Amino acid sequence: MSIDLNQALEYAVAWAKEVGKIQLSYFRGNDLGIQTKSNVYDVVTRADKESEAFLLDKIQKHYPGHAVLGEESGAHAGTAEYRWVIDPLDGTNNYSQGLPVFTVSIGLQYREETILGVVYAPYLGELYTAIRDRGARYNGKVIRVAEKQDLAHSVLGTGFPYDKDVNPDNNAANLAAILPSIRGIRRMGSAAYDLCCVAAGWLDGYWELALQPWDMCAGALIVQEAGGIVRRFRENRGISILAGNAALVEKMGEKIQ
Ligand code: IPD
Ligand code: CA
Ligand code: CA
Ligand code: CA
Repeated sequence: MSIDLNQALEYAVAWAKEVGKIQLSYFRGNDLGIQTKSNVYDVVTRADKESEAFLLDKIQKHYPGHAVLGEESGAHAGTAEYRWVIDPLDGTNNYSQGLPVFTVSIGLQYREETILGVVYAPYLGELYTAIRDRGARYNGKVIRVAEKQDLAHSVLGTGFPYDKDVNPDNNAANLAAILPSIRGIRRMGSAAYDLCCVAAGWLDGYWELALQPWDMCAGALIVQEAGGIVRRFRENRGISILAGNAALVEKMGEKIQ
């Protein structure tokens, strides 16, 4: 049975905004409940856990039977072909530091293809949405990726994996390879936000290694629906992607491995 995507988008936006309220209620306070996960660089807060519990509850109430994959609670099997892929708080390092770039990311897949994406940055008041084949929007306005074709005029985003103690390949070599050729580099601290910035043309391109599905599910659809491409570039370590317009991704690919 197929679902009403407009309805699903309406729900996902409403949930993201509610989750944003939870996150803002703790932000820059002294009740963050910061803990570490896989290593000392990998942190989680009370807000991550409450946000995920909220989303899981809403999805299971409105779409019983749909599968869910969330960063904090893992995989929840479903009987249907639909799967929600959620990162309740993308940018926990920023969040726990009191830095304003953090997002709620909600993707919906049908037979493993992403069909809906919502990314909301509560502190910034920025909402990015997409439905497959229906374009991407920023606060309701249609967005397009930047048109720059050369590295020299481009400002790119990237990130650095947290598993650097077990995997010394932490993206520093790629940064060194591309930095001399570009106008600037940004490390926003939320992969979902980086992708939305590419979709809206605020960043010309973005690459990152070793992402997880919840980091990029919604954001990748938003880029594609804004006319960009998301290309995977190595298969040996999580999800590694280049994003931007096709010509720029080609040029980034010559430097990034
Ligand atoms: C992280 C952010 C960060 C990226 C890391 C992710 P989290 O997600 O997206 O920008 O560089 O690879 O793990 O842990 O804050 O949800
Ligand atoms: Ca995390
Ligand atoms: Ca994340
Ligand atoms: Ca997260």
